[in-house]
This record gives sequence, C-alpha cells and structure tokens, in this order.
Amino acid sequence: MAETLHQIDGDKPAQYDGLLPQIVALISDERDFVANMANIAAVLKTQFDWLWVGFYLVKDAQLVLGPFQGPIACTRIAKNKGVCGTAWAQERTIVVEDVNQFAGHIACSSLSQSEIVVPMMKDGRCVGVLDVDSDVIATFDQVDADYLEQVVATLMAASDVD
Ligand code: SME
Repeated sequence: MAETLHQIDGDKPAQYDGLLPQIVALISDERDFVANMANIAAVLKTQFDWLWVGFYLVKDAQLVLGPFQGPIACTRIAKNKGVCGTAWAQERTIVVEDVNQFAGHIACSSLSQSEIVVPMMKDGRCVGVLDVDSDVIATFDQVDADYLEQVVATLMAASDVD
C-alpha cells in the first residue's frame, strides 16, 4: 500500500481515473468494511478537499454515522429524511446542486452548499450511504455520480459486510 497519497492533476474525470486504481490498491488486501470506508474517506478528502466526506450505515432502521473526514456531523438520520435518508429509501444516487432548495435537507454544517449521496448496496439491500458535502454551489454532477458509484461498488466488492 502506498504510504502517501498525492493529489492528481487534471480535469475531474482525469482525477477520478487516477484515483480509482489507487483506491483498488488501497483496499484490495483488506476485507474490513470500516477500515476500507475510513481510507476511502481519506483518499477522497485528500484529492478533492470537499467540505465533508463520509459514510452512514443502516443500523436498527436508521442511518448511523460511520467513518468520515471533515467537521462533526449529525449521528442519526431517519429513513426518508434529508438527502441521505432519501437516497437510502429510494436506493439511488441523489445529486443536490443547492442544498437550500432541497426540502428536508439536514444541515450538519451551515457551510454546506451542495451534496451528493450514493447508496451502498450489498446483495440487493442498502447497507448505508456515501455522503459528500461541498461548500460551493453545484459542485457535483453526473460525472461525480458515475465515478462515486464505481468507488462504492469497489468498496462493496472488497469488503465483508454483516
Ligand atoms: N446533509 C445530509 C446530512 C448529513 S451531513 O451532510 C454530513 C442530509 O441532508 O441527509
């Protein structure tokens, strides 16, 4: 495993294209789900310097805060609540250009302006979500959705999930 991560230059697809093999290398020798989520949060935060990158895990019919990088965050989110609870309920990626326009958005940080949430599916069920917040409006688009879905698919294939 590489001991240091270097930021990759280029446009967004080039950055993701450079990052994906690093992520595969980083987690391919480790089956622990939490350890792999923790390192993926670190890789994405280092590369893109987004405001907040982290995971929520489905536990007892709620989303509970998992490994993350960034400011402190709310610990529990109900199904259908906020962007995370909506992505969980609908089992699809949600891109929010302006969180102030998303009814029910949960503001863990007043700095957050845009957001993307990708559900994590294992054997047909949603076991959690990857959540990314930006302090800039309209940071995320379909390119991020496509690549972050690949990141999540890599994570799920590499990890044992209860
Ligand atoms: N904004 C999210 C809550 C989680 S924090 O952004 C880390 C939401 O509306 O679900």
